[in-house]
Amino acid sequence: MQKNFSEYKPSRRILAKFSTGKFNFVKRAKIPLLGKIGIIGGGSLANLTILKKAKLKNILTPYGKAFYYLIKKKPLILRHGPKGDIPPHKINYRANIFTLKKLGVKFIFSFNSVGSLKKGIKPGNILIPTDYIDFDTLTFYEKNPKFITPQISEKLRKVIIKILEKLNLKFFKKGVYFNTKGPRLETKTEISLIKNFADVVGMTMAKEATLANELGLEYASVCSVDNYAHGLIKKPLSIKDIRENQNKNKKNIENIIEEILRTEI
Ligand code: HPA
Repeated sequence: MQKNFSEYKPSRRILAKFSTGKFNFVKRAKIPLLGKIGIIGGGSLANLTILKKAKLKNILTPYGKAFYYLIKKKPLILRHGPKGDIPPHKINYRANIFTLKKLGVKFIFSFNSVGSLKKGIKPGNILIPTDYIDFDTLTFYEKNPKFITPQISEKLRKVIIKILEKLNLKFFKKGVYFNTKGPRLETKTEISLIKNFADVVGMTMAKEATLANELGLEYASVCSVDNYAHGLIKKPLSIKDIRENQNKNKKNIENIIEEILRTEI
């Protein structure tokens, strides 16, 4: 499959063939053109109340199968899968971004869990990144490179900032996101290196932002700061603490999503 379709070819005919042919586990894909907004969420979105009532759909893309929820005609993808069991290095980023493109999305609002690289940015805070560093980029264009100049959408950042102000949330309006590969956390030495260049560290956002840019989609993120990065404070870092803080930020994230669902761009 990858052999013939390793490049993005935005043709409905090809996708329809893929969705109906040998792959009988996926029904013929109807491709409704939905609202222009799509959402991608991480661990802190699993079990959200709004997802309980939403329809879970699947679609077969040239990159593999993807799942999405439809809420008020806006697609929402849980990058760790509907059961939350896909670790960062196994996420099918290309299938997820391709799905949003096929569904007519133009603007992606993403939610990402991060570790803080600065003592002043505390667990429980929210940060809206302005840029990112990623030395392990994924691409739709393996064979015929497309030389995009990636960026976070300023237009979407402004929408997010307005929503957060409306909700009276405290947040950092800017910052740089450093994307590590995962699934392991970083070493102390890696953190002391990258903290000179970035404000938060995570495993997912930059991959999605680059792929979205390649398909001409605008992308911005709400980062939930769920821990201090390894070695930044004396207390040892544990995944349990990260999960606990993700849960603490959940209500805020849910409120932000509800506002995004009411937004038209
Ligand atoms: N490192 C990488 N990814 C993360 C972290 C971290 O400290 N916290 C949440 N996601």
